[in-house]
Amino acid sequence: MKDQWREIYPGKSEELLKALHILTRDGKLNQDSKRKLKQVLHLAQLITPKLEAHKTIVDLGAGKSYLGFILYDLLLRNHEDMSLLAVESRHELITTCQAIARASKFDRIQFIQSSISDSHNQLPPTVDVVTALHACDTATDDAILLGLKKDAKVIALVPCCQAEVARSLESLSSGTLKPLWAQGIHRREFGSHLTNVIRCLVLEAHGYKVRATEFIGFEHTLKNEMILAERHHRSNPVAKRALDSLLEEIPVKMKLLEQLKSFTPD
Ligand SMILES: C[S@@+](CC[C@H](N)C(=O)[O-])C[C@H]1O[C@@H](n2cnc3c(N)ncnc32)[C@H](O)[C@@H]1O
Repeated sequence: MKDQWREIYPGKSEELLKALHILTRDGKLNQDSKRKLKQVLHLAQLITPKLEAHKTIVDLGAGKSYLGFILYDLLLRNHEDMSLLAVESRHELITTCQAIARASKFDRIQFIQSSISDSHNQLPPTVDVVTALHACDTATDDAILLGLKKDAKVIALVPCCQAEVARSLESLSSGTLKPLWAQGIHRREFGSHLTNVIRCLVLEAHGYKVRATEFIGFEHTLKNEMILAERHHRSNPVAKRALDSLLEEIPVKMKLLEQLKSFTPD
């Protein structure tokens, strides 16, 4: 039905939704994209109250930049002091996004073709907000490291598939807890759960107040945990001890933990 999108989307630009293929050319909602719109809109609405005091937003693993464009349409167009940088490794997505931004006259959104870990020098020394929506596997960890290095005040993550910790669990021999991950399906689920618990503790240990919640109804996505971290202190020794104790009990390997051993802010 034409104009059905207006019930879902409070933004201004019908042309933007067409460019993102959320609307068909004749203005109807594309059913495949409706689910994505709901997810992005939900994240945008959750984080918008946290963004208004801030100026620099960095979206990592941006893909087609639905989140960046929708944040721009809903928020940045009315806040001339705010800008958004979107980092994405795939060149063709960057080119498409640049064309959409030009056509939409969104001049405070910039696209950087880079891996997250190589993008540090292309970003300002500090940023206010880091988002990563379904950044694949360890890309979410790269987003955490970047957020810490850039002293972000808010880090909003919706992790994607995770394989690194499940692989590490496979080679762990430790005793009584082993049944938790002995079966492949349990290893995958427990590995994913443990990854997110470690991510939360890492953020807490660096002084963030962290809330992990269900992101959106499971009918919209199965990758459904949201980690919202807000900087309150410089560090939190209690959380650091909790992390160390957990890793003594279950000594999994994560690249993020290795990188944090030599961590210094940018
Ligand atoms: C599942 S998509 C999600 C895209 C977007 N955030 C969204 O929710 O629509 C993940 C995107 O992250 C990009 N990506 C994965 N690992 C990355 C990395 N290490 N650095 C930069 N981009 C990465 C992929 O190319 C892909 O476009």
